[in-house]
Amino acid sequence: MGNRRPLIAGNWKMYKTPQEAADTAKQLVEQVREVADVDIMIAPPFTALESVSRVIKNSPVALGAQNLYWEDEGAYTGEISAPMLKSAGCQYAIIGHSERRQYFGETDKTVNQKIQAAIQIGLKPVFCIGETEQEREAEQTLSVLDKQVRKGLERLLPEQLDTLIIAYEPVWAIGTGKTATEDQAQEVHQFIRSLIEKSFGNDLSKSIRILYGGSVKPDNILNLMAMPDIDGALVGGASLSADSFSRIIKFKG
Ligand code: PGA
Repeated sequence: MGNRRPLIAGNWKMYKTPQEAADTAKQLVEQVREVADVDIMIAPPFTALESVSRVIKNSPVALGAQNLYWEDEGAYTGEISAPMLKSAGCQYAIIGHSERRQYFGETDKTVNQKIQAAIQIGLKPVFCIGETEQEREAEQTLSVLDKQVRKGLERLLPEQLDTLIIAYEPVWAIGTGKTATEDQAQEVHQFIRSLIEKSFGNDLSKSIRILYGGSVKPDNILNLMAMPDIDGALVGGASLSADSFSRIIKFKG
């Protein structure tokens, strides 16, 4: 984990009504009240942002969105903009999640536009990258990640990226119960950090936080966090219950 402050982020995907989300968030706030050395974020569905935001006020838990559109406003039916999320209380925005790339046609180019929009309004982007099982088997993991990072961060300057967070999520490990081993993840995280160094310099490569995602659970978080280039986790399934998510947050015991 190096000397970077860990971030444990929960991606609630398309789960929970506003009431259910507020209930879980309330339990979480109670369970992590004493946590001071880990950044915590939850990203509920858009419809629950408001109810969750009320419950987590003045707590260590921050609010995130799962997606955004890059224009500020306009005739874009069904979309939500970065300024709207900011004013709803979001501090973070997950961008380019593999489910969005897979089911909703997101590309490296649209991911890049979304990252720019988030940065412009002061939302911290959680930029998701990762290879599919097929790509890993064809030994294309590093070239796929190289392309996703290069294109996703095109035209951005190092000084714009100081709030950027990268989430490495091997697609084959998401929601499958198959986690990358901590050594597999470390190898890739180190590679991603080297890509950042090449394109944006040593300072950013040392400070940028790289999260691991894909079947993170209370019983595998400690070994993952022991790795020098893993700075936190993006958690799906195990973030839906306050009990398991708070155990992940309190990985140090
Ligand atoms: P999972 O999801 O923890 O359920 O595998 C992770 C994610 O999709 O961010």
